[in-house]
Amino acid sequence: MDICAIVLAAGEGKRMRSKKSKLVHRVAGRPVVCWVREALQNIGAQDQVYIVGHMQDQVRAALGEDVAFVIQEQQLGTGHAVMQAAPFLESRGGCTLVLVGDAPLITDATLRAAVDLYESDGFAAIVITADAEDPTGLGRVVRDPDGNIQAIVEHRDATPQERKIREINSGMYVFNTPLLLSALGRIGSQNAQNEYYLTDTISILIGDGHRVGAYKAPFEETVGINDRVQLAQAARIMNHRICERHMRAGVTIQDPESTWIDATVRIGPDSEVLSGCHLEGDTVIGEDCRIGPDTRLTDVEVGTGVFLERTAAAGCKVGDGSRVGPYACLRTGTEIGQHCRIGVFVEIDNAKIGDHTQASHLAYVGDANVGSGVVVGCGSVTANNDGNIRQHTEIGDNVFVGSNTVLVAPVEVHENAYIAAGSTITETVPAGALALARERQTVKKNWVRRLPT
Ligand code: UD1
Ligand code: CA
Repeated sequence: MDICAIVLAAGEGKRMRSKKSKLVHRVAGRPVVCWVREALQNIGAQDQVYIVGHMQDQVRAALGEDVAFVIQEQQLGTGHAVMQAAPFLESRGGCTLVLVGDAPLITDATLRAAVDLYESDGFAAIVITADAEDPTGLGRVVRDPDGNIQAIVEHRDATPQERKIREINSGMYVFNTPLLLSALGRIGSQNAQNEYYLTDTISILIGDGHRVGAYKAPFEETVGINDRVQLAQAARIMNHRICERHMRAGVTIQDPESTWIDATVRIGPDSEVLSGCHLEGDTVIGEDCRIGPDTRLTDVEVGTGVFLERTAAAGCKVGDGSRVGPYACLRTGTEIGQHCRIGVFVEIDNAKIGDHTQASHLAYVGDANVGSGVVVGCGSVTANNDGNIRQHTEIGDNVFVGSNTVLVAPVEVHENAYIAAGSTITETVPAGALALARERQTVKKNWVRRLPT
């Protein structure tokens, strides 16, 4: 069965009060409109046409090149919007899904069920409906005494009696393509909003003697995002779905309410995510890890058996069996080897750290290559910024960097060298050497005089 889709995405979205199109605000890390594209892809609707207008550049950039776009210059209503895609529909048989770009919670399961219902019984169209607790503002589904759909009436056009109906139109439909086209040609704009209503095609098709069915979806799937309150609600629902998917796949999530996971994140089984974590972007976490509490990972590759506690990390890798935090920061370009210990208040910035290396407390390692088995003492830093450009530090295997060392880059410390605590290293330290670079202690006896009592 040939399925194509039209997605209405031209509206203004004033209530977001945003410089950005509401369709590109993110839900679980993905632009709102891309969730619709995803659901359509999952049911095999390869031909997708997006009706764009307001801030179309942003919408097009978010969706990319795999879908088609039609411009609706003036937003004269949902029916008018679909009409813009008429040339695209004219060459087709099969069915056309019409969706709205701002309802990201629609699932492929619902779309598939609606298409199945459409195919089962010679319907001209299927309306995806839902029962709303508060249907204010939404189109109502009017049924006859036998329960067959008669029409959809917009809230503003509805009689007091019709406003009592709680079954609402989601704004999503499956249409027989040629019948949709024939009905579209006949809709007018004599209504409260002087718009061309797509919903009028339903009563037109019924008037022509065709059957229209309804597929009732869970209300939450139909909710559109019109303001930031709805954006937050949708994000929470999506996050719950994502957390549930991970939990069913063997990941422990201590507190899904305070854990935010982007759609793209992967987590291995028997890993545990403690409260207050944000896992974002292309983050991949292996098995048997413990992440959190309060850890934010953006595009981070984490091996197996890694513990990350109260850590902020972005654009980096952490090898198997390493422990990071609490209160650590790993910046872009960092690669931590296996079985490392990166401890309290340590920042690693664009540095490669070899296996079994430790920097357990209060250190900064930036723009460096650090070997394996290295100990970076408490309070040690690489002075990597000469005020102009960032300079590199090279530390060989099994080097011992005493506490409170400053490595003034560019500088090299070769393997097995030992740096005395408190040193300021400005020159190469050869392999196996001891480097002492500090003022000697002076002791002045009886210098402090006791005050007379
Ligand atoms: C529409 C339905 C209503 C349904 C509701 C569900 C109509 C007449 N009414 O009402 O029955 O309950 O959706 O949310 O269809 N758009 C365009 N171009 C336009 C007009 C709209 O692209 O000219 C897009 C909007 O950006 C939006 C979608 O279509 O994404 C729905 O339009 P909107 O004006 O919000 O319709 P509603 O009045 O909410
Ligand atoms: Ca709407």
